Amino acid sequence: MTPTRLPAWQALAAHHATAQSFRLKDLFRQDPQRFARFSLSLDDLLLDASKHLVSAETMSLLTALAEQARLPAQIEAMFRGDKINATEGRAALHTALRGDTGARVDGEPVAPRVQGVLRKMRALAEGVRDGGIAGQTGRRFTHVVNIGIGGSDLGPLMACEALRPYADGRLTCRFVSNVDGAHLATALEGLDPETTLILAASKTFTTQETLANARSARQWLTASLGEAAVARHFVALSANYAEAARFGIPAERVLEFWDWVGGRYSLWSAIGCSVALYIGMDRFEEMLAGARSMDQHFRTAPPERNLPVVLGLLGIWNTNFLGAESRAVLPYDQRLARFPAYLQQLEMESNGKRVARDGTPLDYATSPVVWGEPGTNGQHAFFQLLHQGTQLIPADFIAAARSPYALDGHHELLLSNFFAQSEALMLGKDEAQVRAELQAQGLGEAAIAALLPHKVFPGNRPSTSILFRELNPRTLGLLIALYEHKVFVEGAIWNINSFDQWGVELGKALAGKILPELSGPQPATGHDASTNGLINHYKRLR
Ligand code: F6P
Repeated sequence: MTPTRLPAWQALAAHHATAQSFRLKDLFRQDPQRFARFSLSLDDLLLDASKHLVSAETMSLLTALAEQARLPAQIEAMFRGDKINATEGRAALHTALRGDTGARVDGEPVAPRVQGVLRKMRALAEGVRDGGIAGQTGRRFTHVVNIGIGGSDLGPLMACEALRPYADGRLTCRFVSNVDGAHLATALEGLDPETTLILAASKTFTTQETLANARSARQWLTASLGEAAVARHFVALSANYAEAARFGIPAERVLEFWDWVGGRYSLWSAIGCSVALYIGMDRFEEMLAGARSMDQHFRTAPPERNLPVVLGLLGIWNTNFLGAESRAVLPYDQRLARFPAYLQQLEMESNGKRVARDGTPLDYATSPVVWGEPGTNGQHAFFQLLHQGTQLIPADFIAAARSPYALDGHHELLLSNFFAQSEALMLGKDEAQVRAELQAQGLGEAAIAALLPHKVFPGNRPSTSILFRELNPRTLGLLIALYEHKVFVEGAIWNINSFDQWGVELGKALAGKILPELSGPQPATGHDASTNGLINHYKRLR
């Protein structure tokens, strides 16, 4: 099913000629109900899509595209447990981690296995938090160090930062991902091995960076507590019991997950252990409940009122018809500082693909570059380009109505910027307004003519705004699942496999080949001239 051959895609291509003349300002003027018509909600989460360059006709063509691409059947196939990740022969069942969806893998229901691990995770989290599970010398654990990378790092790191107000101070969590020794060394600074619990988080338990960090952390631990401490101070979060055992972590200290959980979708599995330790298992389960609620909505709501479907369709419109090559993610919430990085993996590892499911090269764009920083910081760094640069960059604005930080006036200040920026991107500032302002300042005609083009904002730049009452475990679950399913919708329409990631393999293989070349005295000769030159320059410098 090549999407570009579908009648709705062709109709959208034709409709694009009309859409090019859309002015958001005019669309709002023409339709006083536009906000109500183009905003959707689930619980207290509101998704305002009215500031996108779409009309009712655009949305109905996009909805037709979803139908023609058999999106509803594809959604069911995912929830059911079909092996939709065909290149790896796996299901994609992160939804089964947050509720019994009736999914089966090879005929076996998965819910009992999920429940079993949740129980084990609860016992561990509660035991560590109340001191019943202690370190080798009987002292309570005070610090948790999560060692993992990619999906085994970004999800729990992002969630722990986001939910910090729900932590009660019993434990602090630190995260180590980079194989650069600076990361582990800094994370272990000031920690006492006697009171430190180390989570070795790796689905495969073969990831080079994670194993190097876990081995060094193990040396740090055993240097003061001896080998026997490994079984008490390490917990493995992994789908690979055998490798965890080889590392010295006994089966009872392995929290398992399965090959049908993709790395970037694994926050809901044992990989979320640091979150459960940090905020407690009940809170972790509230996060699962939030995601479950989005799952039910995604599975049952009609496409035109379905938040992830609409968000995904807008992604298709912006990418494939308006030509946007990147999207900015702008949380107006410091606690979501790592959310853009989390979405980078979710979106770009899932949908950064160049061939269709059947291997045919694509002649249409897939995932845009996703990037961003929290507001208001971004405003004083890169927003210049959003407002006056040459590219069309749709932006996602995300905020909570309430803040747990009761600093006088800060939250209103933050939210005034949240509202103002999407308004400014949409409205812009035209020549007449700029001219009037400069005239009011008393500038002469020549000075006005020189300054005017620099001060014009073209406006008409699309954005999504997402606003909820407060950033709590449930809302975070809703928010993440919203984006997971949005990525699914896009991948389903692009006819790509959103659940493999072969593109990360080549660099890994080449690094493996280069590693032994770095130690010997002989110059490197087996590569291209640039790579040889760089390696040899390194050898001279070190
Ligand atoms: O190399 C990419 C990747 O496989 C990601 O998809 C994954 O999240 C990350 O590495 C870590 O993998 P693991 O959890 O197996 O260590």
